[in-house]
Amino acid sequence: MKPIVATAPGKLILFGEHAVVHGQPALAVPLTALRATVTAEPTLPNSGLHILMPDSRHHHTLRVHLGEDTENGLVYTAQLVLKTLGVATPPDLKLILHSTIPLAAGFGSGAAVSAALARALAQALHQPFDNETLNELVYEVEKIHHGTPSGIDNTVIVYQQPVYFVRGKPLETFTIPRPFLLVVGNLGHATPTHITVDAVRDLAEQKPQRIQPIFNRIGAIAAEARGLIESGQPNLLGPLMDENHALLCELTVSDDELDQFCRVAKQAGAMGAKLSGGGRGGNMIALVDEKTAPAVQEVLKQAGAASVFTTQVG
Ligand code: PMV
Repeated sequence: MKPIVATAPGKLILFGEHAVVHGQPALAVPLTALRATVTAEPTLPNSGLHILMPDSRHHHTLRVHLGEDTENGLVYTAQLVLKTLGVATPPDLKLILHSTIPLAAGFGSGAAVSAALARALAQALHQPFDNETLNELVYEVEKIHHGTPSGIDNTVIVYQQPVYFVRGKPLETFTIPRPFLLVVGNLGHATPTHITVDAVRDLAEQKPQRIQPIFNRIGAIAAEARGLIESGQPNLLGPLMDENHALLCELTVSDDELDQFCRVAKQAGAMGAKLSGGGRGGNMIALVDEKTAPAVQEVLKQAGAASVFTTQVG
């Protein structure tokens, strides 16, 4: 068997995070510059199935057994693949994982490594998954860490296309006739998504009359943003980003640093800025053009961002 290589990208949420958990639409795009890659190679007979992470600090190797409870997303992914394909004995294989997606940083690292691993293992077993089956499988794995994920991360990462996502609805992609530039600022620390999701749920239960209109407005913003993107006017997205960020502040998922990063990005010429993903740490995105991108990157670095990069969407 020749080595099999499978990959999956990271993701960025453009609009609609958190409200998407409560049934509103959200927009997300693949972040193709960051990728998880898994190579499947045969090993000696009766050696079993191993997952190798040569880049990790401790050069981790995990052994996959069937029928063993695990909290490890990678082992669980492999178990689910074998179960889904009706394979009773783990094959003699090593699955070697490399990823350029920072861990727990809001770029969808968990879903991406899981998608790449499942793809590689299924291909090595000569039963490649269609995207729909893979998406369901990765969603199951996401539940380990995220509690009640909306499914947006796994969907954009598995289909590798811009998605207009509504929980429980069939996949809807959208087109980007005119690409646009975002500066991404990563804070270098993040709050686990299930914590911010739980906080928003508690708030919605305590104050439904105040919070439901916020969810509705965020959903309307996501729909408007899609219209602007699809009609080739992404340069007009700025005010919608600012408004979405202000609404996320009301949902208590921003923090001083994210607010400050958005403020300085705007002062340096960004057309709009918002947090992206779960919030309370994680990432923010700022809409820029070629002229303003360097200055926005620079101020974010000065403000203390752990990493800053510019990405073209579309
Ligand atoms: O995976 P993160 O941290 O980028 O956030 C996911 C987006 C949320 O809307 C906050 C949660 C979800 O499941 O949709």
